[in-house]
Amino acid sequence: MGTVRIIENQSLRAYNTFGVEAKAQWFAAFNSVDALREILSQKLPLAFILGGGSNLLLTRDVSGLVAKNEISGIQVESETADSIIVSAGGGVDWHPFVQWCVAHRYGGVENLSLIPGTVGAAPIQNIGAYGVEIKDVFEYLEALKLSTGIIRTFRAADCRFGYRDSVFKQELKGQYCILKVAFRLTKTQPRLHTAYGAIQEMLVEMEVPHPDIATLSEAVIRIRNSKLPDPAQLGNAGSFFKNPEVDAAQFSSLHQTFPNIPHYSMGEGRQKIPAGWLIEQCGWKGKRSGDAGCYKKQALVLVNYGQASGQEILALANAIIASVEAKFGITLVPEVNLI
Ligand code: EPU
Repeated sequence: MGTVRIIENQSLRAYNTFGVEAKAQWFAAFNSVDALREILSQKLPLAFILGGGSNLLLTRDVSGLVAKNEISGIQVESETADSIIVSAGGGVDWHPFVQWCVAHRYGGVENLSLIPGTVGAAPIQNIGAYGVEIKDVFEYLEALKLSTGIIRTFRAADCRFGYRDSVFKQELKGQYCILKVAFRLTKTQPRLHTAYGAIQEMLVEMEVPHPDIATLSEAVIRIRNSKLPDPAQLGNAGSFFKNPEVDAAQFSSLHQTFPNIPHYSMGEGRQKIPAGWLIEQCGWKGKRSGDAGCYKKQALVLVNYGQASGQEILALANAIIASVEAKFGITLVPEVNLI
C-alpha cells in the first residue's frame, strides 16, 4: 500500500488528444489492480477512468477523481495449432499492441492499425475501421466493478457490441474499469479484410496484389496517415460524430433531393450515410473558427489548431449539427465522450 499518488488540481491537457485545457480536482494513475483498489479506498468521488484520452472532449474542469489506467503487459493465454488467445492490460496503447500482433504474425487486428487510445477503452466503443470491429476478434475481458471491487469476466454476448457501442456506454456506463482484454487471433490462414475501396486502392499503389498481415497493416497506416491528422501534430479525437442510419422512407426522400448521396445498405432498407459527406455538403470542410476547425481532408474530424477550448470545439460541433439538421433533417450524434 501507499504506492499511488493522488494529485490535486491536475491539468488534463496532456491527457486528452484534443489538447484542450481542463483541470481534474484529483488525479491518480494506477498500474495494477491493487493500485486501483488503493485509489478507490480513498473514497473520493470518482469522475471517470481515463485511457488514452483519444475519444474525449473536455468542456469544463472535472470535479472528483480522474483515474488513469496504466495496467501494462501482453500475454499469451492459450493456443492451438491455428489460433491463439492473447490478452493485454487495459492501459496498453492500442497501436503498439497491434504492432506486437503483426510482428508475431497473429492475424485479426491489422485493419485496426494506428487507432489511438488504449486496449481497455477499445471495447467500450467497439472500435472499428476498414471493415473490422473489435467484436470480430474479441474473446473476453475482465473488469472491476468500481462500487464493489469485484472482478467480473465479460464474454462477447455480455458486452452487447454495436456500431461504436457496447454495454459499457449504456447500462453499465461508468460502472466498471476494464483491466484486461483477450483476443482470438489466427496463427495460420489469416482472414484478411481487403474489400474496402480505400484498401484496394492503396494495395494497388503499394503494388501488393497479395497482401499478408504486415502489408495490410502498412496499407491501413498509409490510408490513415493520408487523411487523419496525427494528434501529436494537430489536436483531434478521430471521427467526432457517428455515421447516421436512416430508414427506407427517409432514405428515399433524401435520395430524391440529393441523388448523389453516398450510402451503405444495413439491411431491411436501412441505409448508413457518411457523416463526413453531410458535413462537407454543408460547407464546413476546412472551415475554422478561432482555433477550432473542421479538418480539411476529412470533414468528420474536428481539430484544435492550438489554443481552442473544449467549449469552442463543442460550439463548432453544435453549429455543424444544426446545419446538417436544417439541410438533411438528420441529427448527428457525437461519437466522442463529452465531459
Ligand atoms: N466523405 C466525404 N467528405 C469527407 C469525408 C468523408 O464526402 O470529408 C464521404 C465519402 O463518400 C467517403 C465516405 O464519406 O467515401 C467515407 O469516408 P471514410 O472512408 O473516411 O470513413 P468515415 O465513414 O468517415 C469511418 C469511421 C472511422 C474509420 C473509417 C474507415 C465512424 C464514425 N468513423 O469513417 O473511424 O477509420 O470509417 O473504416 O464510423 C473513428 O471512429 O474515430 C474513426 C476514425
